[in-house]
This record gives sequence, structure tokens and C-alpha cells, in this order.
Amino acid sequence: MIKFFLSVSIIFWANMASAQTSILVKADSAKQIINKNIYGNFAEHLGRCIYDGFYVGDSNKIIPNTEGVRNDVIAALRKMKIPVLRWPGGCFADTYHWKDGVGPKDKRPTMVNKWWGGVTEDNSFGTHDFLNMCERLGADPYVSGNVGSGTVQELSDWIQYVNFDGKSPMSDWRKKNGRDKPWNVKYWGVGNEAWGCGGNMTAEYYANIYRKYATFMTGWNNSNKIFRVASGANSSDYHWTEVMMRDIPHNMLEGIGLHHYSIIDWGNKGSATDFTEQQYFATMKSALFMEELVTKHSAIMDKYDPQKKIALVVDEWGGWYNVEPGTNPGFLYQQNTMRDAMIAGVTLNIFNNHSDRVRMANLAQTINVLQAVILTNKEKIILTPTYHVMEMYNVHQDARLIPVNVKTDSYNLGNEKLPSVSASASKDSAGLIHISLTNINPKKAETISLTIEGEKYTSVTGRILTSPKLQDHNTFEDPEKIKPKVFKGASLKGNLLSVKLPPFSVIVLELK
Ligand code: AHR
Repeated sequence: MIKFFLSVSIIFWANMASAQTSILVKADSAKQIINKNIYGNFAEHLGRCIYDGFYVGDSNKIIPNTEGVRNDVIAALRKMKIPVLRWPGGCFADTYHWKDGVGPKDKRPTMVNKWWGGVTEDNSFGTHDFLNMCERLGADPYVSGNVGSGTVQELSDWIQYVNFDGKSPMSDWRKKNGRDKPWNVKYWGVGNEAWGCGGNMTAEYYANIYRKYATFMTGWNNSNKIFRVASGANSSDYHWTEVMMRDIPHNMLEGIGLHHYSIIDWGNKGSATDFTEQQYFATMKSALFMEELVTKHSAIMDKYDPQKKIALVVDEWGGWYNVEPGTNPGFLYQQNTMRDAMIAGVTLNIFNNHSDRVRMANLAQTINVLQAVILTNKEKIILTPTYHVMEMYNVHQDARLIPVNVKTDSYNLGNEKLPSVSASASKDSAGLIHISLTNINPKKAETISLTIEGEKYTSVTGRILTSPKLQDHNTFEDPEKIKPKVFKGASLKGNLLSVKLPPFSVIVLELK
């Protein structure tokens, strides 16, 4: 055995000389399950995400729908295997009063969406609409409660309304509104961005507020414990995570959030489609910063929770650019190019590799907002490059993480360097190995030599997502310009796998 490992290691290091990237895949050392919820999404009442995105109205006769939710969207998200969906915000969550969104639609009051364009929200998409939609999607709902402008009673009532099976004022009201059985919603956010739009609180103040809310967020369904997520840090605000872990009793806390967007500069985010190499490099630098963020936030959590009981929930991430010309600046509608496929590829590899602590993440946002997986225009939809990466990577959902050791050369611009290739691997319940590889280098193909340690495989197949230009994107006129294709550039000889990865491409390989 020792001899086998020795020879595998010698081959691994010998390959370094000839290949630009060498990857050691420890196939016999499968570790924890990659929680499928890492592949979650986020849907806010923002711009055209809910209205015009998911929901086109119950009486819409033009766009095929089920109770107002587009059938094409349901089919696409089911194919992508969306595991969990966060709603109703975002900043909107701390202005949202759920009771205005249940009962007969013509009796619901309106509100003004103060954060996003100042538009009038008619509350026609509410709790029943969202939770029934999640059932159709096969996704778990993750509901963000209103802490900023709501009350403890209001949030406690919401949980009773959706989860209580017995007789109570809220469960009676739910039944009157057409839903007999509870939905048993597990995931609950306790406010959103409490340091900002959720109330501009200090970490210490919010930790106390959290304790109060969390106290009244239990008990409505004893057989199905709820999972409470504290509003998390803004990117590298490590103090925030420290205070949450230190000041909140751990029996009241199941997860802590973290938000990080890949942004060049908040004051000058640049176009989504018309960008320079400098801007591309800056975006990828910000995306790769996620590695440092989850490492450092996890290290703080390890100090207080070495058994890793509390999850790190990256409940907002993605690329953020200027809105498409001519669209409402408050609607955050942006196109989605191969650059976004690169962000998705590297970020999901980071989450997989940190799945001991990162157990949920939510891409911002699902439809027509920021790094969307779907764009809609009346009866047409586009699946974006980000959609395709999410769909290709779904083989990792609930599979066991396999450690990878990556030695890659760098993508250089001026004096700065970024690693060209990122990777993650997993073994599914049928014993198949999947390896996802992303080459962010726009100038160079990467010759990759993978050494599979510990187990023997005899065949390799794969899919690739790439396109001639980094700025390429799908349009309503050409919706399938970018889509995954069969990849034939991998060959397996014994325990050595050789792969040629084109510039800015994502591949997922399957070994049998
Ligand atoms: O995703 C858009 C916004 O970004 C969310 O509403 C907020 O939480 C974040 O600042």
C-alpha cells in the first residue's frame, strides 16, 4: 500500500514539470457530505424577480403558468435541481409585513417598495404563493423574517401560521385561506443585513435582538425543528461573526449568514457585458476573495464551535454590475456573460471545498436581478451561463467531498496574479466521481494532469461550458449561444487523467 502511494506521489510531482496544472484527487478519502443547499438561490421582491420573473399573475392567459407561476421557470429550476430558495428579501424583508400578503388578493393592502425603485407592491405574491411554488420546485423555502420594522409577535405568528398543525388563531386563518396542512418551513432568517438596510445595528445590539426573536421562534412544530439563521457579516467584517458566536447561546443558533458580492468598485461597477480585461481581473479577484472570507469566518466559528454544529450560510453572493442601459436603476437588471460563469465556477468550488462549515448558500438572485440564472422577456426566457454552471455542478449535491490538491500556474495582469484553475470533486451514492474544473485565464488554455489516488476508474465523460469571447452571453434573439456541450478533451490512462481546459471555461467530468 505504502509503495502504491509513494509511486502515486512521485507521478504527481513528476507531472508538474510537463503540465501547467497538476491536481491530486484523493478518491479514497471521501469526507463530509456537500450539503445540496450550497446550490441555493435567492428571490427578492426587487425589480422583475418576483413580478414578471417567477409570477405573471393567476389570470394570465398568455404565458403558461400554474397558479400564476411560469411553467417554463418551474421546469428550468427543477432541471437545475434548485434545493432551497430564500425569500422575500434582502432589504425588502425588513419592510415586509406578511399578513398583508395572505387572504383574498383583491382585499390585500398595497405598500411602497422603498428600497427597490419606490414601486407599489400589491402583495399579490405572498406566503401561500411562495410556499406552494417551492413545493412545485422541489425546493426548501428559506424565509427571511422582518426584524428591522417588524415585531417579535409578527414573526412568531408567521411561524405559527405556516408550521402549526394543531388548532390556533394562525393555523385556523391558514386553513380559512385554503391550506389545510402546514408547510413545515425549516429555514428562517432573523432579519437581513442588520448592519445596514435591516436597521443599521451594531453587532452587539443585534445579538441581543436576535436572542429575543429566537426565543419566540420555536415550538410550533415539535417534530421538525426550525433552523434559525442570524443576519451575518458584510464581507470581511470578522468582528460581526465573532460577536454572533460569542454572544448568542448556541442552542438558539443554527446558522450565521455572510454576504459578499463580486464587485469592482461600488462607485463604478462597470457594464455587465462591455468590460475590459482589467475589469474582468478585478471581478475575479473579488470572487476569489470568497476563499479567504469563508476560511477566516470559519476559523472564528471553530474557536467557539469546534464541532461545527453551527452552519455558515452565504445567503447572498454573485456578481454585481451597472444595470442594463435604459432599465430602472432600482431594479438591478443585468446581463450575464462568461465572466459570470467564471464567478459561479470558482465560487461553487470554494463552497464545496469548505462544506464542513458552509452548508447553505444563495445566489443573488434567481430571475432578472444581479447574477440571475434566468432572464425573462414577456413569453420568452433565457437560461444564462450561470444557470448552466449551476446545472452542471448539481452532481455534487449531497455527494461526499473528495479532497483535491491543486498546483496551478497563475493568470497575471500587471503585477497581480490569480490562480488559473480551481477544482472540487465528490463521490456520489452510486460511487461515481465528479470533478469540476474552472479555468479563469482568458489568455491561455490549461493542460491539466490529474492523478487519481487510491481507487481505479476505467472511463471518463464530461461536459464543457465555453464560448469564443468572455463577453459572450445569451440573448432573447440567440438564447442558446452558450450552453453545455459534450467534452471530449479528457483521456484516462491508469490513474492519470489528462485534460485540456480552454481559456475561460468550465468542465465537469464523470469517472466510472
Ligand atoms: O441582493 C440585493 C440586495 O443586496 C439585498 O436586498 C441586500 O440584502 C443586499 O445588500
